Amino acid sequence: MENTAELNRQREYIEKLKGTVVRLTDELGRIPKCAVITFGCQMNARDSEKLSGILREAGFALDGDEKDADLIIYNTCSVRDNANQRVYGHLGSLKPVKKKNPGLKIALCGCMMQEPSVIENISKNYKFIDLVFGTHNIFKFAELLYRMYEEDSGQIIDIWESTNDYVEDLPVDRKYSYKSGVNIMYGCNNFCTYCIVPYVRGRERSRDAKEIIREIERLSDDGVIEVMLLGQNVNSYGKGLDDDIDFSDLLREVEKIDKIKRIRFMTSHPKDLSDKLIDTIADSIKICRHIHLPLQSGSDRILKAMNRHYTKESYLDLVGRIKNAVPDIAVTTDIIIGFPGERAEDVDDTIDVINRVEYDNAFTFIYSKRTGTPAAAMEDQVSEEFAKEQFDRVLDAVRRCAGKRNGMLVGRTEEALVESLSDNDPSMVTGRLSNNSMVHFKGDKELIGTIVPVKLHTAGGFYYIGDMVRN
Ligand code: SAH
Ligand code: SF4
Ligand code: F3S
Repeated sequence: MENTAELNRQREYIEKLKGTVVRLTDELGRIPKCAVITFGCQMNARDSEKLSGILREAGFALDGDEKDADLIIYNTCSVRDNANQRVYGHLGSLKPVKKKNPGLKIALCGCMMQEPSVIENISKNYKFIDLVFGTHNIFKFAELLYRMYEEDSGQIIDIWESTNDYVEDLPVDRKYSYKSGVNIMYGCNNFCTYCIVPYVRGRERSRDAKEIIREIERLSDDGVIEVMLLGQNVNSYGKGLDDDIDFSDLLREVEKIDKIKRIRFMTSHPKDLSDKLIDTIADSIKICRHIHLPLQSGSDRILKAMNRHYTKESYLDLVGRIKNAVPDIAVTTDIIIGFPGERAEDVDDTIDVINRVEYDNAFTFIYSKRTGTPAAAMEDQVSEEFAKEQFDRVLDAVRRCAGKRNGMLVGRTEEALVESLSDNDPSMVTGRLSNNSMVHFKGDKELIGTIVPVKLHTAGGFYYIGDMVRN
């Protein structure tokens, strides 16, 4: 599915942008600084690495923050209304800055830009924004940026409703040298009734397995030892491809790449998680002992209204099978509180699932009404007061379980991938265990990006303290 003509076209624009950067450098007396601000999930984080890759290649300095940047790019999220409001907050405070410094350029992209009401608002009320593009044409970034700088045509807005194109092999600027996200699919077909993602990210499309493997091989040659396979529902990977391949098969292919030592993935929809996948995880020494399995609700009535296609019992049964096959696996989840029609009894069911699964961690969200989704039109939207009350009950249950789970590995020696120096003690490093827990131990920066055995002595809130085992 690679689009060579488009790739060459975008590469030409990157070359042209180099000329733009030379001109800006002359005008400013220094290299132009750029800040890429990312909201939302891992998908957006990965997209921002692609934007940064093009910017760096073109010659921009990427160390700018919002305050002193010459170009600011907001890669937005629209999964909950507060994500949208945060972006508007930033834009509001930029208006006077832009007035003082007309040379400052501001671009917006990401999921929020796929909402027609947002585009209407920006074109009417935020005329000082220079460039707006969406999730489907992000591969055109170099071209759009070049046009923004070199054509004096006012605000550029370019939003596509969908696409089947993606352009492989454009430059990427990775945030970490030793780990990387890898898109294995785009979009979502599940249409959970509360969720805007299918509308802003389009239909589910799996990437060709050969392309994925080629990308991971290249990453591994470049020093990456951990990959996170990304998709809104990785368990349905492979549907619609010519090759007969599913997610388990793909994992086994990734596993064959020698220099890759750890494999993670996100997100697994419970309705599509097969026994084959459970066996694949159990058999593997590279697939990490962590699964993120969004529950959303423990109430059958609410799950049905959410269009989730599983029940409380089938979810619990699934978790039971996973924990049986993969002892020590950490299970984390997402929970929504305050979905239309939700009552205290429904939340009782959610809390019951939390207690029975004993999640290692859970992300809890108050339901946010998203225009255009079926749930937004449901009668019986619940009051904010009720949602907050129930939210506190759920959070309490989550904290109790997570507290119980953390510390389970005390006394054991586990492998940790060292990620950074510790924030408050430079003689310590911070690593991540296979189950995604953090561990702090004595060590220096040479260890960053390597996997070392650590004896775990004590546990704090969500982390361990240990000592590296030297042999
Ligand atoms: N594809 C993933 C998650 C995508 S969005 C999945 O299916 O699990 C991440 C999380 O945001 C969701 O799991 C859900 O818990 C939450 N979320 C999505 N829409 C929401 C809404 N309208 N209000 C509150 N939380 C929402
Ligand atoms: Fe949204 Fe559901 Fe798709 Fe996840 S699976 S992105 S919650 S529609
Ligand atoms: Fe947000 Fe888009 Fe991700 S809406 S959660 S950034 S797919």
